[in-house]
Amino acid sequence: MKLVPKLPVVRPGGAKVLLPNEIVDLKKPVTRSRVVRVEFCELASEGLMDKFVIRGGNRLVGSIRISGAKNAALPAMAAALLTDEPVILENIPDVRDIQTERNLLVSMGAEVELGYGRASHRTTISCKNLVNPEAAYELVKTMRASTLVLGPLVARMGRARVSQPGGCAIGARPIDLHIKGLERLGSSIKQEHGYIEATADRLRGGHIIFDKITVTGTEDLMMAATLAQGETVMENCAREPEVVDLAALLTKMGAKIEGAGTHTIRIQGVDKLHGARHRIIPDRIEAGTFVTAAVLTGGDLTLTNCDPTHLGALTQKLEECGVSIRAAADSIRVTNGHQLAAADVTTEEYPGFPTDMQAQYMALATQAQGTSIITENIFENRFMHAQELARMGANIKVEGSRAVVRGKTSLSSAAVQCSDLRASASLVLAALVADGETILDRVYHIDRGYERIEEKLKSVGAQIRRIGEFLPRRAAVPSVVA
Ligand code: EPU
Repeated sequence: MKLVPKLPVVRPGGAKVLLPNEIVDLKKPVTRSRVVRVEFCELASEGLMDKFVIRGGNRLVGSIRISGAKNAALPAMAAALLTDEPVILENIPDVRDIQTERNLLVSMGAEVELGYGRASHRTTISCKNLVNPEAAYELVKTMRASTLVLGPLVARMGRARVSQPGGCAIGARPIDLHIKGLERLGSSIKQEHGYIEATADRLRGGHIIFDKITVTGTEDLMMAATLAQGETVMENCAREPEVVDLAALLTKMGAKIEGAGTHTIRIQGVDKLHGARHRIIPDRIEAGTFVTAAVLTGGDLTLTNCDPTHLGALTQKLEECGVSIRAAADSIRVTNGHQLAAADVTTEEYPGFPTDMQAQYMALATQAQGTSIITENIFENRFMHAQELARMGANIKVEGSRAVVRGKTSLSSAAVQCSDLRASASLVLAALVADGETILDRVYHIDRGYERIEEKLKSVGAQIRRIGEFLPRRAAVPSVVA
């Protein structure tokens, strides 16, 4: 099937709404949870050259509701490929990467429906009529997580053609472990013309020992193994909450999985999976970013709808810096009225300190008294924000995988550029305490993974506004983004 970019189409009237265990065709739209069908659309270049203007100096006080986790939602949406019945996902964040994944699924023939009004964070995916098991370069180049469709497609359709993602702003990020794992499950793999083509009559269970811990690799192969014949044992697996959440969804769909959240996952393959309804876990990185914002601005923030148990490494580190944190079952309150003390950080796989919080922590370290050594162990090139922070007055020296941050330095406003999602978050945080008005360029990076960050920050007292770029749209489309 050829992808023909169309304008976004919204068809509320004739769409289907899914109720537990049944599909009902709606004659009339329902008021509270109308659904809209998503068709393939060119991701609007709109917003791609937006900037944030942030005036620093305000304490952040109040409460922010945390969105669903992008990195749990992406594999959950890919899991819908494993069944011909509808999968209903709640708490899906409204961020650009999710739009990209919807487009990817629609390009394969999936029907994707969005909730409306109160149900606006619900997405229903029906992969009954998959016609095109392919992830094209145009989509994969903008979002590496598109490779998550590889395992489910081979498992259900017997073939998949997925573009090689290539490198990105934070490192080389190969997907060799996904490929080796699929081969262990009996798939034949060909790599040509920049695409990976995987085929298999039916996958069969196997023993996979990951050479290195990989989050999406664990997820991709866990999905593939659910429909393989026999037992799969995967060792040296990622233990991230997003892996556990995916296993919970797959289990609801009828998969037999044990050990998710530990290093060894066992999967008994089944012949068929069915539809399910699942609520995505809260975004621990979004929560961590706002926790850091509260600390930096000497504020008092309560984050609701989050899971403090997923934030252990960060909150422990912040307590070491002198911050007061009170966690409840699904909320966390952070107050800070003291001078921060410097503390070293080393990124590790979960439950260690997350690489996705490293950039934000660096912004914080610029305001701590003393020297903080930040070691990045997961990606080889994830210090792009250091240069931009230095332009704002930070004293940071990068030596290979270590960054030495000497604080406390006062930060001054500047025009800075976002280079990837978390680097952007770090610059937003720095701008909140900088003297004067910082202009942040290329905020499309932040829109990939933070839902309306400027509105959430504004609601607790930040001075932040989004401005559009008045250049011709064509010229504004970026090439490869991380
Ligand atoms: N790696 C390989 N071969 C592979 C796969 C990974 O060598 O086949 C290496 C990577 O190059 C990296 C390390 O293994 O050095 C870990 O990479 P991993 O596969 O765990 O990363 P990922 O699955 O591609 C996910 C998140 C990232 C997050 C990392 C690490 C999603 C969609 N993405 O990426 O999130 O940084 O795990 O926790 O889940 C973000 O949200 O900003 C983001 C980049």
